[in-house]
Amino acid sequence: MTLLDGKQTSNEIKDELAVEVELFVKSGGKQPHLAAILVGNDGASKTYVNAKVKACDKVGFKSTLVKLEDTTSQSELLSEVEKLNNNPDVDGFIVQLPLPSHIDEQAVLEAIHPEKDVDGFHPVNVGKMALGLDGFLPATPYGILQLLERYKVETEGKTCVVVGRSHIVGSPMSILLSQNKYPGNCTVTLAHSRTRNLAKLCANADMLIVALGKPKFITQDMVKEGAIIVDVGITRVSALDTVSGYRLHGDVDFENVAEKCSFITPVPGGVGPMTIVSLLKNTLKATRHKGAEVIT
Ligand code: GUN
Repeated sequence: MTLLDGKQTSNEIKDELAVEVELFVKSGGKQPHLAAILVGNDGASKTYVNAKVKACDKVGFKSTLVKLEDTTSQSELLSEVEKLNNNPDVDGFIVQLPLPSHIDEQAVLEAIHPEKDVDGFHPVNVGKMALGLDGFLPATPYGILQLLERYKVETEGKTCVVVGRSHIVGSPMSILLSQNKYPGNCTVTLAHSRTRNLAKLCANADMLIVALGKPKFITQDMVKEGAIIVDVGITRVSALDTVSGYRLHGDVDFENVAEKCSFITPVPGGVGPMTIVSLLKNTLKATRHKGAEVIT
């Protein structure tokens, strides 16, 4: 069994990015600038956004965090989005999800300028991704692809079950892995809460990508010998013996499943850190693209 170590891989990519940014700036390029909007006080969202900001420092990006109260109205949020759309110094930005229930998430995502949409959630970028055109890939699926690539995981012709059909992970992942490229060329089944015989379906899959948010949902009997497992789930489960008061659990029962796999991601330290570096990569791409527009 080989551990798909997202922490180590993401550190390697961050080191490469830091060199790239330094060279880019030295040759007259603009310092990349990522902004994030965080609405409300959700603990997990705060942790993720802070990790994104910290990663910017590490690679030499500028970052801006816009913190808004959870009582922020939709029009106030849309006006913050508009400010970032119009700020020439900001190359890319994200609105951390989930948003409070009184806000129409889709309307907010559609308000982000597609060329600054480094999360790849705008319909223009989703469309480009589905057609295999150049755009911004959503950060988590992009991170998974990079992890598979760095470990030279063979995917061609394999059967892949993606569990969970969210717009952020499951749905784009199923599209990307079915495309005629590497990593990809899999025969993909997108499974969800209405799927019948899910355990059997999973147990026959060469590859499993699980993004459900249900701790330890995938048990040993649901995994084929030699399978490749990517665990996207990251749920806080209360644990009184820890300083934070919680522990992070993946969707896969790692302890009992790992021994059966050829490759598996740990939680934490698997997909999470890869999501962050993918966001950085998209931001550098946005900066370079903007520079190219100025030159031409
Ligand atoms: N919430 C969970 N994952 C993500 C992500 O990739 N981007 C944003 N903006 N919010 C998220």
